[in-house]
Amino acid sequence: MRSLSKTYDKEVLSVEELILTKGCIYGVIGPSGAGKSTLLRIINMLTPQSGGEILYKGRPVPLNGPERLALQRNMALVFQKTLLFKDTVWNNISYGLKARGCKKQEIEKKVTSLLDQIGMSELANRRAETLSGGEAQRVAIARAVAFEPELLLLDEPTANLDPGNIELIEEMITKMARTKEITVVMVTHNVFQARRIANHVIFINQGKIVEMGPTEKIFTEPENESTRMFVEGKMVY
Ligand SMILES: Nc1ncnc2c1ncn2[C@@H]1O[C@H](COP(=O)(O)OP(=O)(O)OP(=O)(O)O)[C@@H](O)[C@H]1O
Ligand SMILES: [Mg+2]
Repeated sequence: MRSLSKTYDKEVLSVEELILTKGCIYGVIGPSGAGKSTLLRIINMLTPQSGGEILYKGRPVPLNGPERLALQRNMALVFQKTLLFKDTVWNNISYGLKARGCKKQEIEKKVTSLLDQIGMSELANRRAETLSGGEAQRVAIARAVAFEPELLLLDEPTANLDPGNIELIEEMITKMARTKEITVVMVTHNVFQARRIANHVIFINQGKIVEMGPTEKIFTEPENESTRMFVEGKMVY
């Protein structure tokens, strides 16, 4: 991103430059209202920026048209509040593969493997509406990664989940990034989670990237005083 901004009634995001590298896991942290979700929505092209430009693999992303749509199809976004289709677990996970015209055999293989990874093989035929919060979120992530997006965007994917589910989801995310070279951008309110799984941490406050760097550096020797306060849990909002 270059000179990117987003304005509603007032400017809520202003990013001079942000470069994301393939295969890395980025943890986005910052206080409520800082602009974290806005950043994700702009990356995912759900929300158009007000100014500046986004480049994908070095090429400017057009503001509309088929090329923009094609790029959007390389990305998946998972929210804190899971939105599953009112259908079976199996159909939820296979949806994106079918939509992209995958062969039946390939779909069977992928969905079976994903169900195994999320520990839900027994629940393939269950209606999504009947799942617990943790189960539903596991399905949402399996659905998001089924078609192997190049970019996986997660907005507080483990908020309100128990430690077992959190661990499982964190494992899925790190494994995905490692084995499939998927780039992950995860917003989290939990700085410990960012420290556990991210390679790089982006600290946002009042619409600006205050500091970005390798995770250990951000936690042990941040350059900015407000970053230090935030990661130590002392941030004054
Ligand atoms: N559609 C909108 N219209 C007007 N203002 C908006 C809109 N979406 C977001 N904002 C404002 O932009 C700012 C940043 O919001 P955003 O949702 O990105 O924050 P956040 O960092 O994700 O916060 P949280 O941690 O609470 O989820 C907030 O002040 C919010 O009120
Ligand atoms: Mg948010």
